[in-house]
Amino acid sequence: MGSGILAGKRGIIFGALDDKSIAWKVAEQCHAEGAKITLTNAPVALRFGQLQVLSEQIGAEIIPADATSIEDLENLITKSQEILGGKIDFILHSIGMSVNVRKKKAYTDLNHDWMQKTFDVSAISFHKLMQVAYKSDCMVDHGSIVALTYIASQRVFPDYGEMAESKSLLESFARSFGYHFGVRNHVRVNTISQSPTITTAGAGIKGFNEFFGYADKMSPLGNASSESCAKYCVMMFSDYTRMVTMQNLYHDGGFSNMGMSPALLE
Ligand SMILES: NC(=O)c1ccc[n+]([C@@H]2O[C@H](COP(=O)([O-])OP(=O)(O)OC[C@H]3O[C@@H](n4cnc5c(N)ncnc54)[C@H](O)[C@@H]3O)[C@@H](O)[C@H]2O)c1
Repeated sequence: MGSGILAGKRGIIFGALDDKSIAWKVAEQCHAEGAKITLTNAPVALRFGQLQVLSEQIGAEIIPADATSIEDLENLITKSQEILGGKIDFILHSIGMSVNVRKKKAYTDLNHDWMQKTFDVSAISFHKLMQVAYKSDCMVDHGSIVALTYIASQRVFPDYGEMAESKSLLESFARSFGYHFGVRNHVRVNTISQSPTITTAGAGIKGFNEFFGYADKMSPLGNASSESCAKYCVMMFSDYTRMVTMQNLYHDGGFSNMGMSPALLE
């Protein structure tokens, strides 16, 4: 059991597929800290994922939603408020998918129809979600919205493919919507830029295992685990971070500020 810093808060967690998912750990941690949450994922992911296990473990209802569908998002927001008994305090967007990466297309030979799909699922879904939340006025004053991102949005990591541009777009949506949510009712919007993490989405990147070891050595604190990412998310959902908004927050053991590490020369 945690310290209860989310006691009485209501949240929606996107993107828990299996027990390796970062969102899975966030849901567990939010529950341990006293929050009531609903879980959501794409209908197709519910068929082959393990979300039911988590749902039973923490007593959280599942509401299917394809994050690219406004209709599904509206239903999710309405049902979550009914189930949780009021407006929403926090939302986690933890969604990423690239058909080009999945099909191992080279960056210089991308299929642009697939690229549109990647942007829609991985980034525009964040704008859609926030727009539905904004229009329905479902967020509590001083609420918190967080999306997960990766440093390839800001620096070149060749094997990350078009996910790099997806993450740049995602981070930009956080800043721009953060303004509108902030002035209306003090809702914070931030992205957390997480270390490489061994999950279904992470392991889909070419050369992931080698890169995981490289990043671990490059980071003075080592790679941040999904459990520690979950704790950071909890802090961002709590009342202790009420003045933090429109930021891209690195949760990467120091990787983003390193130039060279002697550990890599050994
Ligand atoms: N794993 C890493 O190395 C790493 C590092 C930094 C950031 N991230 C980010 O963390 C987030 C979570 O990824 P993860 O690593 O936990 O992998 P994951 O595969 O467990 O999670 C990705 C989730 O996206 C969901 N999803 C895909 N299409 C969807 C749609 N149309 N509607 C709703 N949900 C959909 C999947 O079902 C899955 O649950 C992603 O944004 C990812 O880019 C991951």
